[in-house]
Amino acid sequence: MTRPERAAAREVLELRSRYTAADLGVFTAEEARRYVSPGGGDPRTNVILAWELLYRLEPELYERLASVERLHPGVVDWLPRHADRIAEVGAGTGRLTMELIERARQVVAVEPATPLRRILMRKLAAAEHGGRARVLPGFFDRLPLPDGYADLVVACSAFTPAAGHGGEAGLAEMERACRPGGCVVIIWPNHIDWLTARGYQYVCFPGPMSVEFGSHAEAVELTGIFYPKAAGEVRRRGLRTVPFEVLGINPPRDLAFKVLGRPGERTLPAWPPAAAGPDLPARTR
Ligand SMILES: C[S@@+](CC[C@H](N)C(=O)[O-])C[C@H]1O[C@@H](n2cnc3c(N)ncnc32)[C@H](O)[C@@H]1O
Repeated sequence: MTRPERAAAREVLELRSRYTAADLGVFTAEEARRYVSPGGGDPRTNVILAWELLYRLEPELYERLASVERLHPGVVDWLPRHADRIAEVGAGTGRLTMELIERARQVVAVEPATPLRRILMRKLAAAEHGGRARVLPGFFDRLPLPDGYADLVVACSAFTPAAGHGGEAGLAEMERACRPGGCVVIIWPNHIDWLTARGYQYVCFPGPMSVEFGSHAEAVELTGIFYPKAAGEVRRRGLRTVPFEVLGINPPRDLAFKVLGRPGERTLPAWPPAAAGPDLPARTR
């Protein structure tokens, strides 16, 4: 099958069935080294690999999901409003980046997947913030930033303790790129204990959260691809607004942060704000 034929065949398939080992050739050598195990990989059994293929083969489909899967407003409000420089890693199509551009003199968005960078650049250009924000290729463990570059170094739904998606080297690299007195923030963390063991504090914002799809038809289509266990209930109940409990994942309502350096070195005065909300279990996706 040619690539367009494969694309047509997978239209209605759930994420873990959309791609095969034949698609792994889309990765650059740098990407393959991080995402594909030496013996090869199968996206039908490794859903993390399937997500990476999604970003490169169907970036607009990812953008459709990310644009309806919105962050808790408390998370966005918690972030500093007046920073000199912000660096975001794993920026994707800019779910968080678009919230950051008003908050700093300079924003650098680092994103390894070329197709996602293109979408993000298009969105930044439309928002007329192209001058203030730069989009660069890079990885958690190899950031294109000098030591102490930013007051805030942040990742949203991207960092994990796994080496290919951050790990020890990636966290050390984010901290290297942070100014003494600045802050590293991991939004929607998936391994809170791992981060707290490394000196991070946890903040979680309460209240019900849902994904608001554009229509019931879109809810059926996108849950069928990304949350197949929930698709039957979405269809049966005619839902357009789908609570995260139905999707079966923890909502994007939490973060872990670490202020670097000594208290006298703080570059973001009167920040961070006091912690809010009860601790909740870690994200399950
Ligand atoms: C679930 S998406 C989140 C994107 C965006 N931050 C958002 O919230 O919509 C995960 C992102 O992490 C990026 N990513 C994966 N591996 C990475 C790595 N080793 N270094 C930096 N980013 C990475 C992916 O390309 C993708 O953009």
